[in-house]
Parts: sequence; C-alpha cells; structure tokens
Amino acid sequence: MRTLIINIKELIQVRDSHIKKVSGKEMSVLPTIKNAFLFIKDGFIEDYGDMANLPKLNADNTIDANGKMVLPCWCDSHTHIVYAGNREQEFVDRINGLSYEEIANRGGGILNSAKTLQNTSEEDLYQQSIDRVQDVMRLGTGALEIKSGYGLTTDAEIKMLRVAKRIQKEFPVQVKTTFLGAHALPLEYKNNKEGYLDLIINEMLPQVADEQLADYIDIFCEKGYFSLEDTSKILTAGKQYGLTAKIHVNQFNAFGGVALGVQFGALSVDHLEELNQEDIDALKNSNTMPVALPSCSYFLSIPYTPARRIIDAGLPLTLATDYNPGSTPSGNMNFVVSTACIKMKMTPEEAINAATINGAYAMGLSDICGSITIGKKANIIITKEVPSYNYLPYAFGNNHIDKVLINGIEVE
Ligand code: NIG
Ligand code: FE
Repeated sequence: MRTLIINIKELIQVRDSHIKKVSGKEMSVLPTIKNAFLFIKDGFIEDYGDMANLPKLNADNTIDANGKMVLPCWCDSHTHIVYAGNREQEFVDRINGLSYEEIANRGGGILNSAKTLQNTSEEDLYQQSIDRVQDVMRLGTGALEIKSGYGLTTDAEIKMLRVAKRIQKEFPVQVKTTFLGAHALPLEYKNNKEGYLDLIINEMLPQVADEQLADYIDIFCEKGYFSLEDTSKILTAGKQYGLTAKIHVNQFNAFGGVALGVQFGALSVDHLEELNQEDIDALKNSNTMPVALPSCSYFLSIPYTPARRIIDAGLPLTLATDYNPGSTPSGNMNFVVSTACIKMKMTPEEAINAATINGAYAMGLSDICGSITIGKKANIIITKEVPSYNYLPYAFGNNHIDKVLINGIEVE
C-alpha cells in the first residue's frame, strides 16, 4: 500500500537517521519543510521533500493536506495504561481536603487499584485497557510504554504484563513493557519489606523473564515507598535478567535516586518534580533521559518538573503522560505538550522534540519512530487547518487532529 500526502503546509520534525535524541539548545530547533509531500510505502516512510521537487510516484491513495501540518506521532514513554476500575472517589476526597499521602496511608492509592485489579479477570482487564489504548491512538500516540505495578502479587503482576503484551501484539501502536513490582508495599508485607523484595526478586522476576514479559524494570524510589537501598537491590536483580532501569524518582522528595539511576545506567529517570543541583550534575555526561510528567503535576497540584533548569543545563528532556488511575487519569499527549509550554515555559519546539524524538529514545525506539525519517514507521498526525505549529499548544484543550496514521494505516 502506497500513500502520498501532498500540499502539506509544514512537515514537522524532519530528521536524519543518526539523531537519537536532542539535548539543551538543540531542543529549540525543530526542522521542518514548508509546502511538502510525504510518501509512505508498506507502513514506512519512503520519501519526503518539497512539493516543488515532487517526483512521479505511484500511489494507491493520495491525501491533500492543504493548510494542514504533518508531524510524527507522539511517543509516550511512561504510562500505566493497563489498570482496572478508577479512583474517582479519591479524587473527590482530595477536593474535600485529604492529601494524596493521607489517602495512600489509609490503604487507598496504589493499594486500592491493586485490590481492584487482583479481582479483575485478565480478559476484563484487557477490555478495559484497550478502550484507553484506542483513545490515545486517536489522540495521536503511536508508541507507548506500559508498566505493571497495580498487581503487587505474582499472579496479578503477570496478568498485567500479559495484557500489555497482548496489546503489543494486537495493536499497531509500538509497545514497550516495564515490570514495576516495586510500586508499593502490599498490606500483608507492611512490616516485612524484605519479604516483599524477596518475592519480587525470587518469584516475580524469574517468571517475568521466563515469559519474556518485560523490556525494563522500574521501582517507585520515594520516601514511604522504596529506599535507595531497595532500589539498588531491585535494579541489580533486574540487570541479572537483562532488564534496563526506567525508574520513578524525585516525585515528592530528592534524596539521591537520580544519581543512583544514572549509576545503574537507567534509560530514563521519571517525575523529577523535586530536583536539586546534584541531580542535574548526575545527569550530565550520562545517557539517562530525564522525563517530565506535567499532567501528574496538574492533577495532583504538585510542582512541575523544572524544565528550564534541565534544558538550560544542556540536558535532554522527555514529556510523557503517566496515564494511571491515581495521579493522571489522562493519556492525552496534546494536553501534555500544551501544559509543558504553558506551565513549564518550554517553547513549542522544545515541547514537540520532548514528546517525539526524545520520547522514542526513552523507550529505546529512536531508530523506529519519533521523527519524519526515511525508513522509520509511518506513524503520523495530520492536523486540521492551523496557522502554525505554535497554535497546537497555544489553543490548549482543543482537538487539532484531523487524521492519525499508524504504520501508514488510518486510525478509525
Ligand atoms: O507515576 N508515583 C507512582 N506511581 C504513579 C501513580 C500511582 C497512583 O497513585 O496510582 C505515578 O504517578
Ligand atoms: Fe508513573
């Protein structure tokens, strides 16, 4: 199948294949071609360029994108999109004055979601999750990381990852999976953290590895959850099974988790709402990608990740949703990009780079998606008619998407 898109007002994020991520000042550069064409063959980007140089191409299908922008699909490198039920009651409790921490301390929060998930069948969990996957595809997401972590028993963690793997198999969206057994301490282990870490290391991990259910390993490194020592233990064990780290750190407290992640060669360190100079220094000269989750800050009314400090220090930055029932019940990357511009003072160029090429890097997918590059998957967003790409984050909350193509096929 060959699709030719013509008269594109601006083709955004056009890159050579050697670009894997962009950092610091490079993030303010967003290469584009005005009045462009894009040619897709069998799901991949085959050619693109200036309309003035349009070669004679044999297409099965031609799309006229007059007045419209074309950009690569969003790469959402941090989600918990496989979950059961919701936590709308906790949302109301927070409005009425309880804090996220208070709710968690009385058995709500992650433990609440885990209880619901444990009592949900694998098929039901799959059905609930794919509704969200279809929604985010329509919102322009073409690649997705999916974490476990709402199971907290061996069976339920495996159930979550099997559902994530089924999504990977049955949907065109690119999926990477992450084992997050160390998301919270189950009630039965309240006074026996070592026991739970042993269960993760000696029972869950071997099974996850045996069934090849995960690409990455994660842990919630946070006061009241898992310490630096616990993090070292879990990441060491993960490494023995070939799992690279992608960790939750510095959401509420900064106490050295970022440096520890870097030391373990983490692919990404995510959240970073609290960030100090040592954290920034640790990230310099590393291959670890800092990831900001602005919808989580928005929903919980906690500080935003200091994007300016990160980028101005010459570091790269990724934007992702954190889609989950507790802190971010939204998987809308368009909202993430807008919020990053509005609240974190990222420019539209920086935010689009952070949500595409850098997001792909944070999932190990830079060679496959995240830019308009010959040979990459034809995962693209065709916008409605808009005056410029600045308009996308500017007119926040509106739907600017006309069509989404994943593997060159239109998402219905
Ligand atoms: O990334 N911070 C840890 N985990 C999730 C949310 C957990 C929850 O409240 O369900 C997050 O925000
Ligand atoms: Fe998360």
